[in-house]
Amino acid sequence: MSEKIILTGDRPTGRLHIGHYVGSLRRRVELQNAGDYKRMFVFIADAQALTDNVDNPEKVRQNLVEVALDYLACGLDPEKVTIFVQSQIPELCELAFYFMNMVTVSRLQRNPTVKTEIQMRGFEQSIPVGFFTYPISQAADITAFHANVIPVGEDQKPMIEQATEIVRRFNNIYGETLTEPKIMLPDNAACLRLPGTDGKAKMSKSLGNCIYLSDSAKEVKKKVNSMYTDPEHIHIEQPGHLEGNTVFTYLDAFVTDDDFAAFLPEYACLDELKAHYTRGGLGDGTCKKLLLNVLNARLEPIRQRREEWQKDIPAVYEILRKGSEAAREVAANTLADVRRAMRINYFEDAEYIKQQAAKFK
Ligand code: TRP
Repeated sequence: MSEKIILTGDRPTGRLHIGHYVGSLRRRVELQNAGDYKRMFVFIADAQALTDNVDNPEKVRQNLVEVALDYLACGLDPEKVTIFVQSQIPELCELAFYFMNMVTVSRLQRNPTVKTEIQMRGFEQSIPVGFFTYPISQAADITAFHANVIPVGEDQKPMIEQATEIVRRFNNIYGETLTEPKIMLPDNAACLRLPGTDGKAKMSKSLGNCIYLSDSAKEVKKKVNSMYTDPEHIHIEQPGHLEGNTVFTYLDAFVTDDDFAAFLPEYACLDELKAHYTRGGLGDGTCKKLLLNVLNARLEPIRQRREEWQKDIPAVYEILRKGSEAAREVAANTLADVRRAMRINYFEDAEYIKQQAAKFK
């Protein structure tokens, strides 16, 4: 049997978009369906979302169900994957509390993801302690389940490195207890960090440059038509540039040869289309139309499944409740091992209490 324990999660701060899809969601569904794992967990990191949304709990609460719907819409199957809610597993806080003793402030300050996020949010001197330490809490999320395969986007790399360091430190001090995680990155470079529709480096809700999984066909059309391409490609005859051309980045992330057969049979594959574009004589309109067709082909089944689940919201909450219960059982087992390893399992062992009694006689 496979030894893989797969785990990954998302902060519920907005609906999920196609950047999440190519960066991680698509892979999760493939992993789920391949079935080569001992156990697979996907969770909604609501406690982590609160680290920089302390004054907006309603936003986190609302997006919990949105993200759950996105999961189910993408095809995650609660029969195969344990879907749970971070805040419902108090053992994660306990583990994070012990991990805090193993990480220095300067190590956290060097975490590149935390660094950029602090800048992005304009935190400077007003960083909440909880936000600053979320890499430690994330290490707890991973290790409480002995997860060893973490399918995430590239921006999460520093988090997995931090978790690995904590595991090594813990096992070194207290004996082999926890499992080292390994990151699983998307294999296609375009999927590592999908830019926004405006060509800016990152697709993000605050920049308003996202295509959401739940966008209607009409919304997707509007967004694709206004997408950033090559500003110097004004007339069709002119040679176009692919570098920084968002339409082509998206095509790289989404299109297959079968899509050409279905939507643009004049070309066999993306390389042919690119060659024509760079040679000149191919308009942005044709490329956008292809992209739109491909996106809608991918998104349509997702939209339909979402609509079905939206008709039964109590069932969605029930999936989360049951998943959280199952996840808690696993985390509680790990924490029992952790307490034992840390010598803080005082009341577990009658023999030990007897020995202590003898010592004080
Ligand atoms: N930090 C991740 C994100 O912003 C969410 C997350 C929290 C996570 N804990 C995790 C991802 C553990 C993988 C493993 O998307």
